[in-house]
Amino acid sequence: MSKDENKLRHLAIIMDGNGRWATKRGLPRSMGHKKGAEVVKEITRAAGELGVEFLTLYAFSTENWKRSEDEVQTLMGLLRDYLKSDLKEVQENNVRIRFIGEREMLDADIVQKMAEIESETLKNTGMTLCIALSYGSRQEIVNAVKKTAALVKEGDISLNDIDVKLFSDMLYTKDMPDPDLVVRTSGEQRISNYLLWQIAYSEFYFTDVLWPDFNKKLLEDIIAEFNKRERRYGKA
Ligand code: FPP
Repeated sequence: MSKDENKLRHLAIIMDGNGRWATKRGLPRSMGHKKGAEVVKEITRAAGELGVEFLTLYAFSTENWKRSEDEVQTLMGLLRDYLKSDLKEVQENNVRIRFIGEREMLDADIVQKMAEIESETLKNTGMTLCIALSYGSRQEIVNAVKKTAALVKEGDISLNDIDVKLFSDMLYTKDMPDPDLVVRTSGEQRISNYLLWQIAYSEFYFTDVLWPDFNKKLLEDIIAEFNKRERRYGKA
């Protein structure tokens, strides 16, 4: 296998354990999310320094809407601050920012800010930071099926034109390579409706470390471990 097939181009992270981190310290869950948002900044910077080309972060899932009104508001408040101030530094570092997920569910000012950030950073040539916000993979796939079916119905494509490439282009992640590595923090070993189509050949790394305790050194260790893995993509 060529060395390139093993290269970590796209890192996807499920940032889990904010609540437990706070509870362990006798703090409200909101403090865990606040610390988690700081770690997002640190890890985005670190990923760029470590040569990652695409970083996808699971910031809010479609299922997270079912949390208490209070907690949803805390997370939306942090996201608002993040979009309005934290992302400025990221933008200045030539990072291209994009968002995946169901925007209809989000408040109008957040959606507007997301669109602004995407268009302002579209031409940046550094790392791509992809933030999954109000994201659910099954919903993404159903939307892609509907888009594809509409093209067939309109006569723009025929049934036989549908293949893996065409279908991939109907997903939010169009134009992005599939994740090479998915990391989940906090000891949970599940995927939770994250990038189900895109992770067909991804490697996985689960760590017990809670997201607010995650840091650059750990990321370096995980990448070193990933670099030792042999990826065969079904080949002998
Ligand atoms: C999981 O912790 C974390 C989330 C709900 C999503 C990640 C959110 C952040 C890192 C903070 C805000 C993000 C940005 C981009 C500003 P949990 O609450 O599920 O933890 P628990 O399993 O211990 O309860």
